Amino acid sequence: FMKRRKKWSHYPPGPVSLPFIGTMLYVDFCNPHLSFNQLQKKFGNIFSLQNCWTNVVVLNGYKTVKEALVHRSEDFADRPYIPMYEHVGYGNKSEGIVIARYGHVWKELRKFTLSTLRNFGMGKKSLEDRVTEEAGFLCSAVSSEKGHPFDLRFLVNNAVCNVICTTIYGERFDYGDDTFKKLLHLFENSLNEEAGFLPQLLNVVPILLRIPGVPQKVFRGQKAFMDFIDVLINKHMETWNPAYIRDFSDAFLKEMEKGKMAEESGFNYNNLRLVTADLFAAGSETTSTTLRWAVLYMLLHPEIQSKVQAEIDKVIGRERSPTMKDQVSMPYTSAVIHEVQRYGDVAPIGLPHMTYRDTELQGFFIPKGTTIIINLSSVLKDETVWEKPNEFYPEHFLDANGQFVKPEAFLPFSAGRRACLGEQLAKLELFIFFTTLLQKFTFVLPEDQPRPREDGNFALMSSPHPYLVQAVPR
Ligand code: HEM
Repeated sequence: FMKRRKKWSHYPPGPVSLPFIGTMLYVDFCNPHLSFNQLQKKFGNIFSLQNCWTNVVVLNGYKTVKEALVHRSEDFADRPYIPMYEHVGYGNKSEGIVIARYGHVWKELRKFTLSTLRNFGMGKKSLEDRVTEEAGFLCSAVSSEKGHPFDLRFLVNNAVCNVICTTIYGERFDYGDDTFKKLLHLFENSLNEEAGFLPQLLNVVPILLRIPGVPQKVFRGQKAFMDFIDVLINKHMETWNPAYIRDFSDAFLKEMEKGKMAEESGFNYNNLRLVTADLFAAGSETTSTTLRWAVLYMLLHPEIQSKVQAEIDKVIGRERSPTMKDQVSMPYTSAVIHEVQRYGDVAPIGLPHMTYRDTELQGFFIPKGTTIIINLSSVLKDETVWEKPNEFYPEHFLDANGQFVKPEAFLPFSAGRRACLGEQLAKLELFIFFTTLLQKFTFVLPEDQPRPREDGNFALMSSPHPYLVQAVPR
């Protein structure tokens, strides 16, 4: 007992906790990373909070985050249990991947997902072809706006979601398709529902979720999104032929057939729903939001846009489609894309982690079961690492000779065991979509429009405030 008490005396400092609500009033849940930056100044890189009775520790800055996620990878590899997803089937035997507890089932599902996506071309040529083809559809849709001001958001969302849809369900949708529009709308609603104070409260006081009708009312969009996924999966099962694997869902169904061992490794029907919903959720909005930041920065920095276009013209020309092989010969474009990810900072607080065992970090004691927030924003904008952390400055990724370099603090995909599973796919999409768009169009700010805001709008992710753009054919 004395030993443990001594350990607790090294628990990270934090603001004074109030009865029942703990320190929840210190955090603006609509902009948590900004609150964390303030608290970091007061309490240092490792500080503690209390969401009602849940212990939370926030990690800030490159050095601290690297030490936790890379050097003590397993200690920080767990995820907290999130009761608000129970009503869509998340629970004991099925947790998907993104919020699955660390252990055998998560490991098996992650391994299976990575290798299956790779076999369908993740990082290989066939998926690259798919993305290239979709970039063509995207350019046609942008062309049909005929140089008039428009919001790029819907088209980019459609393009990115189509890449995920073909990989998981073997199906792409036309941009005007009503069902697809509905899906994107539902998905957006469900993201908005999960941000803010109320969902946080429901997670830490899950008994409130037992009040009849509460989850259905608060998370209506989430439920509707899952219903939609169910329709896609059921349609798939009707046409499934085990001899012929068309896509990710088929590969999962085949795995489910393997019996008890597979069942124990998490290959059950409910996990098929949750894993595919995870890939959809984690893989679409992140990438499309990054692309929207990319175009916004090109509007705000036309000289940078011209330099990217000059490099595209030199290396690829105006006709041939860009390929991933071009990337090595395009240091400036690569630097711009990386800077978009750094400065755009789309996942400022990543996803919550949880300590898997008692651990120690820079002399602080962090007990097993503590919720850990990784303030990725504080890494991507760490003043001790980046020359101009709060400016859009592609030179962060160029050496004195104009060659591409990647500082270690570039961690938009996080690091360690729970690092983003879709990093390769995301990089492929960002490069191909961005270069294809700038090869075909110059993006300008419509004359009557105000200068777009550079600060993000936070709803689990940080995305640009809506803006209009004109795409002038080149
Ligand atoms: C997890 C970022 C694209 C699938 C994550 C995490 C971040 C992230 C910060 C949390 C890591 C952690 O907990 O420490 C991004 C960004 C993307 C992107 C910035 C695009 C620009 C994708 C794509 C896919 C994907 C395209 C899928 C095909 C996942 C999955 C996880 C994850 C499944 C959970 C991993 C686990 O818990 O084991 N991503 N991601 N992501 N991402 Fe991504």
